[in-house]
Amino acid sequence: MKRGLTRIVGWAHELLAEVVAAGDLAVDLTAGNGHDVLMLFQRVGRSGRVVAFDIQDQALRATELRLRDAGAEVQRIDAQRPLAAGTGVSLVAASHAEMDRYLFAAPKAVMANLGYLPGGDQRLITRPETTRAALRTSCELLAPGGRLAVVVYPGHAGGDEEALLVDDFFRSLPEQAFDVLCLRVGNRPAAPYLQVAEKRRRADFLREHQ
Ligand SMILES: C[S@@+](CC[C@H](N)C(=O)[O-])C[C@H]1O[C@@H](n2cnc3c(N)ncnc32)[C@H](O)[C@@H]1O
Repeated sequence: MKRGLTRIVGWAHELLAEVVAAGDLAVDLTAGNGHDVLMLFQRVGRSGRVVAFDIQDQALRATELRLRDAGAEVQRIDAQRPLAAGTGVSLVAASHAEMDRYLFAAPKAVMANLGYLPGGDQRLITRPETTRAALRTSCELLAPGGRLAVVVYPGHAGGDEEALLVDDFFRSLPEQAFDVLCLRVGNRPAAPYLQVAEKRRRADFLREHQ
């Protein structure tokens, strides 16, 4: 099947799908309307687990509906405590900056689709400080061989600032520990683009990466 060359979210899905298998743990930092959660659920299957975060109830409800329609077992998490190991889709009503309070194992894939909820309040956007915290924790927790994929939107108010931060974050990941790929639409500077990091080995990179 021919796919559009500039479908950045599609590339993110393909690059994560390469490393996620049935039974794995996968994380979505920004559940939104649930498209990315659905893709992750389809990869990890019923024997795997997807944990997804969002700060908007509207987003968590949309994701829950989409995943139930797809046959997933969905659990809403409101309390701040570590999740028990298990299967299915867990939707966490919390900021991704707090992800380490919930996760119980090393994810093979972490997805983030930044910006605002399509069809929602465009003032509720991902913010540089919380995005940075979530990216740092994701890189720390990621399983060896696992990937973090971030779709960045420079085109909206606040988007440029966040894009600079994300680019700086990926650029400064130590090459001994991570391979990094940046995928852009070469002739549209304001178009969404993709940053991906793959963990090469377990590394206490945070000490080197202050
Ligand atoms: C572009 S949408 C995500 C699209 C989604 N992945 C999908 O497949 O439809 C961005 C989402 O990030 C959420 N968000 C913003 N700040 C957040 C935070 N600190 N923690 C978790 N989610 C956040 C917004 O509420 C919004 O739903």
